[in-house]
Formats: sequence, C-alpha cells, structure tokens
Amino acid sequence: MKKLHAPASNLCIPYTMKTNTKNSEKLRTTWSVLKSLAFLFLLIPVIYVFCSLRFVDLFCFCTKQDFTTHHRSDIILSPPGLPRTDQGHDPHEPPEIKTNLSHVVFGIGASAKLWDHRKNYIKIWWRPNETRGFVWLDKHVKTEADEKKLLPPLKISNDTSKFTYKNLEGHGSAIRISRIVSETLRLGLEDVRWFVMGDDDTVFVPDNLVRVLKKYDHNHYYYIGSTSESHLQNIQFSYNMAYGGGGFAISYGLAKALEKMQDRCIQRYPGLYGSDDRIQACMAELGVPLTKEQGFHQFDVYGNIFGLLAAHPIAPLVSLHHLDVIEPIFPHMDRSRALQRLTLPMKLDSAGLMQQSICYDKTRRWTVSVSWGYAIQIFRGILTARELEIPARTFYNWYPKADYKGFAFNTRPLGKSPCQYPFVYYISKAATTTASCDDDAQNNQTIFSVYSLDKSPHPHCNWKMEDPSRIDKVEVYKKPNPYIWEKSPRRNCCRILPTQDNGTMVIDVGECSEDEIIEFR
Ligand SMILES: *[C@@H]1O[C@H](CO)[C@@H](O)[C@H](O)[C@H]1NC(C)=O
Ligand SMILES: *[C@@H]1O[C@H](CO)[C@@H](O)[C@H](O)[C@H]1NC(C)=O
Ligand SMILES: *[C@@H]1O[C@H](CO)[C@@H](O)[C@H](O)[C@H]1NC(C)=O
Ligand SMILES: *[C@@H]1O[C@H](CO)[C@@H](O)[C@H](O)[C@H]1NC(C)=O
Ligand SMILES: *[C@@H]1O[C@H](CO)[C@@H](O)[C@H](O)[C@H]1NC(C)=O
Repeated sequence: MKKLHAPASNLCIPYTMKTNTKNSEKLRTTWSVLKSLAFLFLLIPVIYVFCSLRFVDLFCFCTKQDFTTHHRSDIILSPPGLPRTDQGHDPHEPPEIKTNLSHVVFGIGASAKLWDHRKNYIKIWWRPNETRGFVWLDKHVKTEADEKKLLPPLKISNDTSKFTYKNLEGHGSAIRISRIVSETLRLGLEDVRWFVMGDDDTVFVPDNLVRVLKKYDHNHYYYIGSTSESHLQNIQFSYNMAYGGGGFAISYGLAKALEKMQDRCIQRYPGLYGSDDRIQACMAELGVPLTKEQGFHQFDVYGNIFGLLAAHPIAPLVSLHHLDVIEPIFPHMDRSRALQRLTLPMKLDSAGLMQQSICYDKTRRWTVSVSWGYAIQIFRGILTARELEIPARTFYNWYPKADYKGFAFNTRPLGKSPCQYPFVYYISKAATTTASCDDDAQNNQTIFSVYSLDKSPHPHCNWKMEDPSRIDKVEVYKKPNPYIWEKSPRRNCCRILPTQDNGTMVIDVGECSEDEIIEFR
C-alpha cells in the first residue's frame, strides 16, 4: 500500500483510506488533496497572526528589558518564514562597543595579616584611574596616603560567621572570598561586563586579560580561567575548576545568576577547601562549564618557572601566581624587583610578552629560542619545534612525592646531555625606536630589546663545536602587534640577522610569512 502525501498527516487532517476500486481511490485522493490545500490556505493566515502576535509580544517584552538586563533577548525567535525585523537586537552579534579595560572590575581577595607584604604585588600591575576594582579584606589596615594612590580602594567583606566551614585543612576566609563576586555586583557599578577575581599574590597583565575577554559576550554565562599545573591538584579539586590564584573571570550575566543563589549554594558545601572550589560548585549547579584559557597561570609548582615561561603556550599571558612560592623569575634579585623588570616589555608590547619563537643559526648549528620580553636560549645543536614547545623541567611538582608524571601537561628534561643545556640570556633593556634603516625610511615603531648572558657556570661539554658563551648579548628587533590575538593563533618567527660584532647576536622577531616554517636546512 502506497502512502499518500505526507503533509496531510502532518496537518492532522483525518484521512481514511479505501482501496476497493482504483477510481474511487483516485477520486478520494483528489478530494483530500483539495481539502488539505483549502485547510492550508486557511491555516497560513492563522499561523501568521498567531506568530506575529507572539512576536510582537516578545519583542515588546524585550525592548523593555534589553537595555537594563541584556539577556532576556535570547528568547526572540523569528517564526519560520517571517523576516527578522531590524529593530530586534540580535543576541548573537557581538556587542557594538568592544570590551575594554574600563568594563572589567577586579575583586582581589586579601587578608590584613599578609597585606603589608602582598600589596607590593598589586602595585606592579594596578593602573590607578584605569583599572577598576577593590581589595577585599577581613579587617581594616593602615595605608599611607601616597600609597593609597597606587592601590585599589580597600573594602571590608561582609561578615560570614553564619556560614558553616568544616574543612580541617583550609581556612574559613574561603567563604568570605568566594562571596566577593556577589558583593561586588551588589555595589551596582555602572558599565560592568566582567568580574575578575584574583588573589593578593596574583599579577595580571590587564591588556591581555581584555584581549581574552573581548572574544566573549558578557551578557551570556561565561566562567573563564584555567586549571592547575599539577595533575594531583586537579584530581583533588577538579579539572572543571578555575583556580583562584591564576584568576578567573565571570561575565556580568553569570554574576547576576550567581548572586541570586550563591549564599544557598555555599551552605551546601561546608566541607570544601577554598573559595574557588565553592565558586565551581555553584557553577556546576548553574550548569556552566569552565571556559579554559591558557594564559591564566595558577603556578602550583616549586622552584624555577623558567621552563614554563620560556615555552609559553601560544596564547596571551594573562596572569602569574604563587610569586612567594616560586623563585624570582630573574636570577640574582628579589621577587618584587624581578617582576618589576617585566613591566617594561609588558608596556611596550603586552600582546607579545613571553611569546616563543624558534630559529636556527645555520653556520654555527645552534638553535635559538626567544621568549619575547623575558629570555633567550641558545642551544648547541639542532632542536626541533616540537621539542622546544614543551616546557623544560626547571620546576618541581606541588606534591613533593610526584615526579614529572604528576604534571597536567607535557614536560621535557632540560637537556638530553650536558652539552644541550641552554645558554640563557635575560632581558636587560627595552626601548621603542624608529624602524631600522633598511625599512624604507618608514617611521614605523620597532621595539629594540637587549638580553644579557646569565653567567652561571655550565657543565663541561666535549662537543667540538662553537660555544655560545662567546656571545654575551642578544639584540632583538620586533614590531609591536597589538592585534595579533584577533587572528588565528600562530607562533611568531625569528630570524638571525648578520652582524659584524662576534660578541652579539641580532634577531628579528615578527609574524611568520605564509611559507615560513621552523626548519633547519
Ligand atoms: C571603553 O568603553 C567605554 C564605553 O563603555 C568608552 O566610553 C571608553 O572610551 C572606552 N575606553 C577606551 C580606552 O577605549
Ligand atoms: C586619578 O584621577 C584623579 C582625579 O581624576 C587625579 O587627581 C589623580 O592624580 C589621578 N591619579 C593618577 C595616578 O593618575
Ligand atoms: C556588606 O558590605 C558592603 C560593602 O562593604 C557594605 O556596604 C554593606 O553594608 C555590608 N552589609 C552588611 C550586612 O554587613
Ligand atoms: C609601517 O610599515 C609598513 C611597511 O613597512 C607600512 O605598510 C605601514 O603603512 C607603516 N605604518 C606606519 C604607521 O607608518
Ligand atoms: C671576533 O673574532 C675574532 C676572531 O674570530 C677575534 O680576533 C676578535 O677578538 C673577536 N672579537 C670580539 C669582539 O670578540
């Protein structure tokens, strides 16, 4: 038996099929086709009227709400077949004004006890009159008037003694700190798109934070950050959690949803350790996953993070943390001064900070790895890009008993033989210059940076090849490229330039041309 036209049944027209004679079947078929058609013609205006009413209704609701709350507009659905009106705000279009630093409000979790020491980390990155936000403390602290200008305004968190905290290893302040997002939202500041949480020992690169956040629509629900370097930490807490010290961002839309339920949510998890796992528990209840961005760094490691910074992922550097735990990022100086040293390249080309490029000195058979604004390594022999993009183990696991298998990413030994240990050059100078002479007299800006050899002793090597220790400085030319992260991520290229001075290496760093690849030939 043949099935007759399907649309009829879709429209729920009662249809009885008789099969006695061919003729009567034909007649009946024609009759029901006519009937269906007539019904259809009647139905279309009904659908139209219904839909347009619904549409108008929703649309009006929307325009009323849109400018204040920004997210109910999600429910406008143009009925099929009806053209979208231009008046409706399309929630999938990115907001017209691009997100900038003024849209971000920081919430820094701090304690009065450590304030005198930790405030120095905040001064490194805080930009008075540009960055917005507060330091949230448990008690009042004394600050000198001239110091006040360099720091965010201080606030005392609300009392949390009515909440239960039952974790034996942690500290009750976790509840206070996890409520900072809600407390900041309740302040009702204007023109806020993102709430960014950090610790008092977190150093942010604010421009890179904005580069990351501007990719997302703040009206929607976003929870952005990164996990720990330690696999065991991620097992103990969660791979779904943004670690608080690395900092994380909560979109305005999500903060509003969180604020409504956070206090109830917190009561359900008295046994959790910190503030960040409490936030994650509420995210799980809201059904919002972690959007992982690789530039947030919790740094759950000990020792020297050189290996991590020299092979940074191809993503903007957003934050550094655990600065009291790790060794100073530049040798022979204290932690604060070492971080201070990073601020100049950060100012000149934040987008390029710590970005790795790899090239070869053909005549001497050396491999060069640049971590722009930080350090350069020269290796004897040829190392491939796939080896060098993996961080060298200059640091230890957070759990003393865990070895290299305890990291949540690949690592490699510093060198396969003592001859392969790198010669390291740390940044010592950086300045903006006009383009070098071969640049068609264009007055384009170029950053000139100088890196000086770290003279720590090297193990003996019996390879009969030229020794990079004769090079005592490396000069790097690079054009700043603030828009590089608006393209698909790609490693920069470096090129070794000829020079007369045999104590210097000169390198150009910039976007790779189309066919430029990292190969030794
Ligand atoms: C940031 O965006 C605001 C609009 O919300 C605008 O008034 C301000 O000028 C922008 N700031 C910069 C530095 O572009
Ligand atoms: C910040 O702005 C205030 C008033 O607008 C001004 O008095 C102060 O000098 C500014 N501070 C800095 C560090 O620019
Ligand atoms: C909570 O903290 C805010 C900001 O510090 C303050 O304005 C408010 O009065 C506090 N509320 C309570 C109940 O303590
Ligand atoms: C910079 O130089 C490039 C080519 O070298 C040129 O196309 C561009 O217009 C220059 N930009 C400025 C601002 O001079
Ligand atoms: C450069 O190399 C030549 C020999 O190769 C040597 O005589 C000269 O002293 C070197 N100059 C510097 C500045 O190292």
